[in-house]
Amino acid sequence: MDKSTLDLLKSQFGLVGVSPKMIEIFRTILKVAPTDLNVLITGETGTGKEVVANAIHKLSKRKKFPFISVNCGAIPETLLESELFGHEKGAFTGAYEQRKGYFEVANKGTMFLDEIGEMPIGTQVKLLRVLETGEFNRLGSTEIRKVDVRVIAATNKILEEEIYKGTFRQDLYYRLKNLHIILPPLRERPEDIPILIDYFAEKTCSRLGIKYQGISLDALNILRGLQWEGNVRELKNLIETIIQLEKNGFITIEILKKYLPPALPPYVVTEQPKETSLIPISRSPETTLGLEVIFKTLLDLKKDVELLKGAINELNAKVDALSTNIIELKPEAYHIVETDGFPNISGENVNLENIEKEIISYTLKKYKGNRRLTAKALGISERTLYRKINQYNLT
Ligand SMILES: Nc1ncnc2c1ncn2[C@@H]1O[C@H](COP(=O)(O)OP(=O)(O)OP(=O)(O)O)[C@@H](O)[C@H]1O
Ligand SMILES: [Mg+2]
Repeated sequence: MDKSTLDLLKSQFGLVGVSPKMIEIFRTILKVAPTDLNVLITGETGTGKEVVANAIHKLSKRKKFPFISVNCGAIPETLLESELFGHEKGAFTGAYEQRKGYFEVANKGTMFLDEIGEMPIGTQVKLLRVLETGEFNRLGSTEIRKVDVRVIAATNKILEEEIYKGTFRQDLYYRLKNLHIILPPLRERPEDIPILIDYFAEKTCSRLGIKYQGISLDALNILRGLQWEGNVRELKNLIETIIQLEKNGFITIEILKKYLPPALPPYVVTEQPKETSLIPISRSPETTLGLEVIFKTLLDLKKDVELLKGAINELNAKVDALSTNIIELKPEAYHIVETDGFPNISGENVNLENIEKEIISYTLKKYKGNRRLTAKALGISERTLYRKINQYNLT
């Protein structure tokens, strides 16, 4: 993905990321946006489901029409249907006048159904109908209305589990899942942390009219190792808080520590975690994704074991080669000592001068009187050898 596309996603839609996982998601967004496919976005809280939904809308031909975001979990069950599909006057107690629902308002545009996992099963049936035929009835009306709305749904629930429990309709799930975008937790893409920090810090600094100068490496490493249960939202809040309260445009480890919980678990302050050490299976939104991660980790481990085995074999080979050399050297070493008639100095003859004399005389003989070779073998200069020869009358 080229830099200009990344810049566009950042400046137009507030979408930042450089990790392979996010780049892949950006590619999907660009591909799916111009189509009319419904999209299901899943991921832990704060992973960017709403930003992605918004980007898809803005990149589509529907961008001139409304993007309506409805939080299915925040509206009381009784109200949700009338909010979505509208009602006629007197349709229920309190329906004093006729009212359009969000689906009518969103006509030709996009409807973002957030927390779809919270939608009551009765409403799900009506939603399925709109998705399949574009048709619906306002509450209290028999008139069939037709709309052209693209639906993007999001949830941090595992919908398969909800289906199993009977709280989510399988047919609706497949309808929504025309295209499924799974946003990975921040801890699975630590490569994105530096760029996100810069993005949030720069924005806050420019709002405050100060210059952003950066974050120190040790502070960054701590942030890269955190678990980020609240994902990008949590990181954003932290950076914004630090910049606003410190007002100095840079983040050091001392500053950072003031804003982090005092007792950090040990894994937090150590080395940044490697990709393979991140196995967020239990919290992964999709079981299949979890299995993929386990599988990949196992494959990586297998590769590591193979590499280690190779290294051990190589070492063994080297050790073998070394011991052979030692054995080969031995007889030669003995040979020199045994056959060269090295002087045997013992008893009262043993003093330094005698030893020196004997050794010089022995070496001279060995090199047949050649003084240069003798001096070299003894490690002394020719001049010294000359002096010693005179001193010991060795001629
Ligand atoms: N890739 C990203 N680049 C820049 N900002 C991001 C990114 N992802 C998320 N954010 C920011 O993090 C915050 C949370 O994002 P968003 O509301 O889209 O998360 P969510 O997945 O919808 O969370 P929830 O499940 O709690 O509703 C927002 O302020 C958003 O701008
Ligand atoms: Mg959201």
